[in-house]
Amino acid sequence: MRTPIIAGNWKMNKTPSEAKALVSALVPLVADAKCDVVVCTPAVDFAAVSEVIKGTNIKLGAENMHWKESGAFTGELSAAMLKESGVEYVILGHSERRQYFGETDATVNLRTLAAVKAGLTPIICVGEKKEEREAGYTNALVTYQTLIALSGLTAEQVAKVVIAYEPVWAIGTGLTATDEQANETIGVIREAVRSVYGDAADEVRIQYGGSMNPKNCKGLMAQPEIDGGLIGGASLKAEDFSKVVHFDA
Ligand code: PGA
Repeated sequence: MRTPIIAGNWKMNKTPSEAKALVSALVPLVADAKCDVVVCTPAVDFAAVSEVIKGTNIKLGAENMHWKESGAFTGELSAAMLKESGVEYVILGHSERRQYFGETDATVNLRTLAAVKAGLTPIICVGEKKEEREAGYTNALVTYQTLIALSGLTAEQVAKVVIAYEPVWAIGTGLTATDEQANETIGVIREAVRSVYGDAADEVRIQYGGSMNPKNCKGLMAQPEIDGGLIGGASLKAEDFSKVVHFDA
């Protein structure tokens, strides 16, 4: 049995004082959660958030990281910097990074290897654009993105990563993949993992992301392949995020 994992992706939202208020409201609301609960926040919020979540069941995540240990990479953050800031998870290869910041499958792979080496749990994002789905490329594309991202990891390491299937056309648009569409594509991703890493495929947790909210989370989470959610917009309000965390209520 895979433990479900619900992670918030705050993106470029919440100053440290706003972050403190949001996560303070969240702590009591999710204290009884049966799933793993993560908030991925801007790096400037790490200190405020980690102080509030100390001793609670909420874990801290980052939204990106560089693959080098240190050096002349102005504006970037290393795995060691994240670790020392209390970060345990890191989103890698989010479609917004791919679309606006030149992220490629090859750099997602470098980041994944560096994150795992440092003891961080990557949340690796894959997913197709609208035109790719319409052209019938979804399965080939998510298979390719997944296998490139994981390349160089052992099966044991793969078993512990988190993958987020996020159809690009569903992110921030209010359009959600149907429960069946999401389940089917996540099943394709799991079989891609199985083709190279065998039984690790049964352990790896694969989330759905893309306009997941208090209304649609129950149906999505009832699907057998879907192990959690990566939540953007609905993670910015404590009540909404808490309702997603309690998807089975
Ligand atoms: P959304 O974002 O829930 O606002 O669609 C999800 C994501 O980008 O991770």
